[in-house]
Amino acid sequence: MRAAFIQELGPAENIRYGEIDPPVPGPTDVLVDVEAVSVNPVDTFVRSGLFRTPVDFPFAVSRDLVGTVVSAGPGAPGFAPGDRVWCNSLGHGGRQGAAAEQAVVPVDRLYHLPPGVDAAEAVAVVHPAGTAYLALFTHGRVRPGETVLVAGAGGNVGSALVAMAVEAGARVVATAAARDADHCRSLGAAEVLDYRDPDLTARIRECSPAGIDVHIDTSGRNDLAAAVDVLAPRGRIVLLAGARSQPVLPAGPLYMKDGSVVGFVISHATTAELAEAAVAINRLVGSGRLRARSVERVPLSEAARTHRRIEDGELHGSRVVLLPKES
Ligand SMILES: NC(=O)c1ccc[n+]([C@@H]2O[C@H](COP(=O)([O-])OP(=O)(O)OC[C@H]3O[C@@H](n4cnc5c(N)ncnc54)[C@H](OP(=O)(O)O)[C@@H]3O)[C@@H](O)[C@H]2O)c1
Repeated sequence: MRAAFIQELGPAENIRYGEIDPPVPGPTDVLVDVEAVSVNPVDTFVRSGLFRTPVDFPFAVSRDLVGTVVSAGPGAPGFAPGDRVWCNSLGHGGRQGAAAEQAVVPVDRLYHLPPGVDAAEAVAVVHPAGTAYLALFTHGRVRPGETVLVAGAGGNVGSALVAMAVEAGARVVATAAARDADHCRSLGAAEVLDYRDPDLTARIRECSPAGIDVHIDTSGRNDLAAAVDVLAPRGRIVLLAGARSQPVLPAGPLYMKDGSVVGFVISHATTAELAEAAVAINRLVGSGRLRARSVERVPLSEAARTHRRIEDGELHGSRVVLLPKES
């Protein structure tokens, strides 16, 4: 079958488009005909080796797919040929990636696609939305009525954070570029602040006098001094971006607020945590309340170029989806 794959870790140019052996499903696996594959920053981290995880060569890149079930093993109940499905946890931890004509998905990592949802539209959001769910609920323990600060709310993860926090009854304070303000408001953010405002911390304090209960910065700046400054008593700072950042933590002020800092990567989420997130993702995707701002559809043979575009920072919130059937 055709795939976008690497034979060794390294730069985007290592990705080749060509034939590899088709995957062989085990008894608890589902064989899927792949319709659409997304490309995320983390796919570039796995490919380059920045994020260390077991991979077998030839290794098909990418972790998310939408597709159609070809066959399900005897230990994979609930799935039948023709079912439309999605997964957001291939391509790491020893599992082959999604960027191929077919993929094998362990049954506990596969979910049904809500009816009527477009494959490319869905695959574009399942990684950012899974990340947002884990940040807000698994690690941030957000409660209705709490105030959530989403820094970078105009981005992929940021947009999903706003939509999910609002759905959960939280009040969202968003920081974003001025051009993204209307988008953040359309998702339900109560306040939208320009991240370039030199008095941003004062603005956050003004609109949240009781403090921020859950603080999430998707930009990777991780200014912990500013985050602790605006944190409410018992507030939680959730770190998820900025792989090379090494900020200074004001430990004294943090502990005197009973505050905490927790980091996570979705790659370490359990299958139970991912399945819980999938329920929320299906609800939002199925009702049209969560959509990527723009989706560019390209053939699978464009995988290497797409990795390079992400690494060069060219995409600015738009998503590129690889289509194996159009290559
Ligand atoms: N931990 C995990 O499991 C996990 C999972 C998924 C993603 N991530 C990470 O999350 C990060 C975000 O991913 P993404 O796909 O959402 O990227 P993205 O779409 O590029 O979003 C980042 C956003 O941050 C904004 N921004 C830039 N500087 C800012 C600042 N100083 N203050 C506030 N916002 C600022 C950007 O605005 P401009 O467009 O104006 O620059 C952009 O809207 C990436 O680093 C990714 O690797 C982590």
